[in-house]
Amino acid sequence: MRLSADRLMAARQLMRVEDGAFSSRLSAGGTAPAARVRVLEALRWQRAIDHVLQPRCRRELEQLDPEVRASLRIGLVEAMQLGLPPALATDGAVHLVRRLGKSSAAGMVNAVLRKAAAEWREVLEASSIDVRLAHPQWLSSRWVENFGSESAASSMASAQERAVTWVWFFDESVTSTLAREGVNLETHPWCPGAWSAPENARQLVQSVKEGAAYAQDPSSQLVAHVAKNLSSDGDRFLDLCAAPGGKSALMLRLGRWAIAAAADLRPARVGLMRPTLARAGECLVAVADAMQPPFAFGAWDLVLLDAPCTGTGTFRRHPELKWRLSPDSVGEMAEKQKQLLASGLELVAPGGVLLYSTCSVEPEENEGVVSDLPTGFELEDLEVVMPDNVPWIPTDAAGARILPNPNGDGFTIHAIRRTD
Ligand SMILES: C[S@@+](CC[C@H](N)C(=O)[O-])C[C@H]1O[C@@H](n2cnc3c(N)ncnc32)[C@H](O)[C@@H]1O
Repeated sequence: MRLSADRLMAARQLMRVEDGAFSSRLSAGGTAPAARVRVLEALRWQRAIDHVLQPRCRRELEQLDPEVRASLRIGLVEAMQLGLPPALATDGAVHLVRRLGKSSAAGMVNAVLRKAAAEWREVLEASSIDVRLAHPQWLSSRWVENFGSESAASSMASAQERAVTWVWFFDESVTSTLAREGVNLETHPWCPGAWSAPENARQLVQSVKEGAAYAQDPSSQLVAHVAKNLSSDGDRFLDLCAAPGGKSALMLRLGRWAIAAAADLRPARVGLMRPTLARAGECLVAVADAMQPPFAFGAWDLVLLDAPCTGTGTFRRHPELKWRLSPDSVGEMAEKQKQLLASGLELVAPGGVLLYSTCSVEPEENEGVVSDLPTGFELEDLEVVMPDNVPWIPTDAAGARILPNPNGDGFTIHAIRRTD
């Protein structure tokens, strides 16, 4: 009975994601774990699932009613990824499509899934790696071209893993309290101050809810550590694209800045980050467009531009992004990023640094944005400021790229120093 309710919730969420909702926001409202895992796994494996389903359906999957499509995808992902025996997964999907009001499709769902759930392994074994690892073909080819076939394959495989929750603590002494309460905390292999609790995930989530910890991918946390390590005489920090506030909050917590300001274009997101930043330290918070920043020019020792991007490093947490991006998305985003960078550079104090970061691994959105700098600015090598053991590779513009890996999302960072 419970599983049937979870499948129903999962199908409804999948249909909402098809209509443009984000899975991470839908699940924020207390989705049951069994429903959430079905949504995320169905989105994550969608290309592989559809590759198995399509030849067994008479009509194009895209032309089926959304209720039928969702039932088929949930049924097959239960067999492929959740270990349900084919017959149980099929029966569950038949029951589901009836509950969704499409009883007329029950026979078809039964016939398609009986075959698909029994045959998926051999179908996928015979397919190309982009199908097997459920990535769009254009993206897989682009990663092979940019990073080589081995790195592309391991990046895609990592993007298919379920994301581990990593946090940092506003006050690290909480870790001792949690340990005394029996929470088995683990430190991260390369991100300083990042903690997880695979055996006690619920307690860790509770710490986040109570405001003692902040959940953030280690690659994203790393930006704050790199910022702290960059040499600078001054202590004024400005974050131009700050919401929901994770990097600014960690930078405040690392405590190097006497004056800090964090802004974002979207008022609702600024509202979200206010309490986080208030917990971390003193910071001016503003709604502002980074294209026309209302801040003093040439006055900030560190400007963080954590730019809006395609997010190709974050598929593990946002699997539907893979299906929303197109080959044009990268170039379109790069144009916007170049404008943001030009505007951000005007704010940097002499001797100061602009740290440009994205959770995209695409060169056009990173080295392609920072390589054409105005006079008086120079790219700075990140080697000396990178914490030990980070699995980064250098970019063509002295930056650092982390490809999606078992311990973190994909990310790219460049530092630009004002030299005049
Ligand atoms: C990658 S997210 C920032 C994440 C944030 N730094 C953190 O660590 O929590 C990019 C942000 O840029 C904001 N943004 C997009 N265009 C902007 C603009 N023109 N001015 C200011 N913020 C903008 C978006 O609203 C979004 O919150």
